[in-house]
Amino acid sequence: MPDSRVLVTGASGFIGSHLVDALLELGCEVHVQIRETSNRRWLSSPEIQFHNADLSDPGPLENTIASMDYIFHCAGVTKAKTRSGYFSVNAEYCEPFYQLCLDTGKNLKSIVHLSSLAAVGPCLPGEEVNEKTPCNPLTLYGKSKLAGEEVARHFASKIPILILRPPVVYGPREENFYSFIKLLNNGWALQVGRTERKLSLIYVSDMVNAMLKGMTPDLSGGCYFTTDGEEYSWGQVYQTAEKLLGIQSRTLRLPESLFHLGAVLSEGFSWFAGTVPLLDKQRVKEIRQSAWTASTKKFMEDYGYQPQYDLHSGLKQTLEWYKSNQWL
Ligand SMILES: NC(=O)c1ccc[n+]([C@@H]2O[C@H](COP(=O)([O-])OP(=O)(O)OC[C@H]3O[C@@H](n4cnc5c(N)ncnc54)[C@H](OP(=O)(O)O)[C@@H]3O)[C@@H](O)[C@H]2O)c1
Repeated sequence: MPDSRVLVTGASGFIGSHLVDALLELGCEVHVQIRETSNRRWLSSPEIQFHNADLSDPGPLENTIASMDYIFHCAGVTKAKTRSGYFSVNAEYCEPFYQLCLDTGKNLKSIVHLSSLAAVGPCLPGEEVNEKTPCNPLTLYGKSKLAGEEVARHFASKIPILILRPPVVYGPREENFYSFIKLLNNGWALQVGRTERKLSLIYVSDMVNAMLKGMTPDLSGGCYFTTDGEEYSWGQVYQTAEKLLGIQSRTLRLPESLFHLGAVLSEGFSWFAGTVPLLDKQRVKEIRQSAWTASTKKFMEDYGYQPQYDLHSGLKQTLEWYKSNQWL
């Protein structure tokens, strides 16, 4: 693995930037795809080799791809205003990108494609989805991630492609999970309705290690869920964070209908402001589900994956980072 030439797409993002750090640490020659407009705040190492390209036109990456050993496709959109906003990046742009990999990537040993639990959808409380569960995505995001997987699978017979489906990934630099913790730190544990909602989680270092398994010789390929192996309720997330922060919060229990109203207002405001809403009707659909839980057993068996962090240790690292970076 050291000295391998590796390209990371979506390197300016949360997961991509952590992966870049890990690859540098391993001694790889790290190339990153970014856009003119991408924020480089997490990409400060002088060893990183930058390549400007929007994936709507991957052409400028041709020469780079030609000399790569591995590619990690992390570019994606988790929030968008329209259906095409999700489908373009998460699915349509995968096609010309993988075609270019097939045409020019003569040294390519494998590609890791980042999908999501959302491509399969939620489940009933007490259950967890696995690799045999039929896909039934609920939101435009989930549907677009499934469409992206289908593109990846189309190319997987010609190039080894490992598709990974994480649940919520949390850790330093991530801003969605952080917004809940920030509210908690201000004294409020936000709960939706009266139902206890279950979720799988994965700390970003474990996610990065799971992705690095894609560089295992002779094992690349397939589609797997990657979690920390546990199932949590939001109540557990808050209690763990409270203990680590040494605070006590009050529960802010909002009815589901209020979230729907909030989403309508937020979408209206964002439409006028030309921004992507923080809360929209798609997000509310996700929030209303009782369980977003998945089993990572098959990835453990097939790839020898062993998560190193549970909620307590992952949150500890995350909160320490928030504090030392003045996020809290
Ligand atoms: N975070 C999670 O909890 C989670 C869970 C499951 C799956 N995933 C998947 O993991 C991947 C990475 O997620 P993340 O949380 O790291 O997202 P993120 O922080 O929003 O980063 C997304 C990255 O994609 C890039 N990108 C977006 N549109 C692009 C385009 N047209 N051309 C080239 N690059 C483009 C962004 O570049 P700019 O900086 O220029 O915008 C950014 O580098 C996504 O595919 C996501 O669906 C994430």
